[in-house]
Amino acid sequence: MLAARGLTPFYRRTVGRGVHRLFQLDLIEKTDNFDNVTWLGQPIWQDVLDLWIIQEALSEIRPALLIECGTNRGGSAQFYANLFDLMDHGRVITIDVEQLHSLDHPRIEFLLGSSIDAVIVEQVRAAASATEGAVMVILDSDHSEAHVAAELELYSPLVTPGSLLHVQDGIIDELFVFRVDRPGPLPAIKRFLASHPEFSWERERSEKFLITHHPMGWLRRTV
Ligand SMILES: C[S@@+](CC[C@H](N)C(=O)[O-])C[C@H]1O[C@@H](n2cnc3c(N)ncnc32)[C@H](O)[C@@H]1O
Repeated sequence: MLAARGLTPFYRRTVGRGVHRLFQLDLIEKTDNFDNVTWLGQPIWQDVLDLWIIQEALSEIRPALLIECGTNRGGSAQFYANLFDLMDHGRVITIDVEQLHSLDHPRIEFLLGSSIDAVIVEQVRAAASATEGAVMVILDSDHSEAHVAAELELYSPLVTPGSLLHVQDGIIDELFVFRVDRPGPLPAIKRFLASHPEFSWERERSEKFLITHHPMGWLRRTV
């Protein structure tokens, strides 16, 4: 790789922003919103730039337990578990209302049910409190504002101080192409941050690659 220089902060704030948006819209259209991305053959419904950010976060936090709401076809849980294989550390609990895969991995526990169902939440709480080490949470299930707000209240206490809470798909509230699913995660994130001073938004991480499906999506528990 080569060192690159030249683009000014002014360019980034003006022309750059428009270019990023147009590129993101084009990429969403071209990939059918990343619907056919795979990880080692398993469908994973993520923007690949965002996956790299998650990889960096997992490497930094080294969670002993990663809780994922929204398994879908299992590729994301497998991606996290495979990274944990490389790190020789960590396990995943992933939750979905539907069973859409036939995956089996020693580091993954699959829970079937709603992420806000009391029985499921109790199971996850018990696992988190039995965990020695960092607990990290990724919210990627029902992206409606009300559901994300409920998940934030239920799962944020499980995030250990210093660790991260990742709320996915706030892009719903920013791009017109996703308007039918509004209100989405962004208003829930903003309300949560206003009433939870123990969490702060990691802007740098959220905006590292200029385009992301998860604006304001990375929250660090500071205390
Ligand atoms: C965007 S997909 C998850 C994608 C997956 N994390 C990945 O990266 O490949 C959202 C999933 O959330 C699930 N879901 C919807 N409502 C839910 C709920 N109340 N509790 C748990 N999962 C839910 C859906 O069945 C769907 O599979």
